[in-house]
Amino acid sequence: MIDLIKNLPKAELHLHIEGTLEPELMFELAKKNSVEIPYKTIEDIKKAYNFTNLQSFLDIYYAGANVLQTKEDFYALTWEYILKCVENNIIHTEIFFDPQSHTTRGISFETVLSGIKEALEDAKKEFGITSKIIMCFLRHLSQEEGFKTLEEALPFKKDIIGVGLDSSELGNPPSKFEQLFKKAKDEGFKIVAHAGEEGDVSYIYDSLDLLKVDRIDHGIQAINSKELMQRLKEEQIPLTVCPNSNIELKAFESYKEHNIKKLLDYGLNVTVNSDDPSYFKGYLNQNFINIYENLDLSKDDIIKLVKNSFNSSFLDEGTKIKYL
Ligand code: HPA
Ligand code: ZN
Repeated sequence: MIDLIKNLPKAELHLHIEGTLEPELMFELAKKNSVEIPYKTIEDIKKAYNFTNLQSFLDIYYAGANVLQTKEDFYALTWEYILKCVENNIIHTEIFFDPQSHTTRGISFETVLSGIKEALEDAKKEFGITSKIIMCFLRHLSQEEGFKTLEEALPFKKDIIGVGLDSSELGNPPSKFEQLFKKAKDEGFKIVAHAGEEGDVSYIYDSLDLLKVDRIDHGIQAINSKELMQRLKEEQIPLTVCPNSNIELKAFESYKEHNIKKLLDYGLNVTVNSDDPSYFKGYLNQNFINIYENLDLSKDDIIKLVKNSFNSSFLDEGTKIKYL
């Protein structure tokens, strides 16, 4: 089964490119760009990756992202992830980036996007890996700031398939961004949002009803409402679940407690993803292996999870069929 997991061609739908920054590249870029980081050794970094909740991770994740300064840095970051895709047999990936983490430090939107985009173009040429780019709004910032970022993105619309919502969930509900997401939808962007990672089911309901999402990122708290479970099942709304992330950020005490198998058995459209793999101890295959080993997943479960990812991707229908 482990070989099956490794050998199956897979898609990934929930991956923050800034969350693939490996400690080695962080050090290299910190030195090159003369950016101070609070670690002396790789060991120091690994020790710091000991999280208690989402916010404790985000503080370290944003600090790490400060080493990214030039187009070449974003290219290098993305290319390293592409090499992990090759290792993990990921043949299609839809990656998030957080423009506001960079534009607020004086790095231009174009610098960030062009570095990521060129690496993804080279991934297609070199390995045949296909991809889409989704930009996320930081929900701890205001809707007004989100509107500015959306304006900045409009000249690059052809390169960005959708918009998402990430960062600190609790206290920053979907309703805060209703107008922004309406405008994004009118502009033709696909819509996703992190919801029900730490927030209760109201965050998932509001993502569906106010933001009109095409997919829910995480969504694990849905299990607390039978009515919501029924709706997610009927509408087959994709949930991009990230097992390692949920364990590392203490949504569940251990893999044995993770609810992905329950969600799947209920008939929800669940997918497996790595979220921020450099910070959460493993890329996509390791996420599959961890749930397989702890939750009694069958071969059919694994195949269903993989098919769900292709089906729920933003590939056009003709291309999807070729992958399935
Ligand atoms: N949740 C919210 N925001 C994030 C995450 C996450 O798991 N990863 C990167 N930004
Ligand atoms: Zn995420």
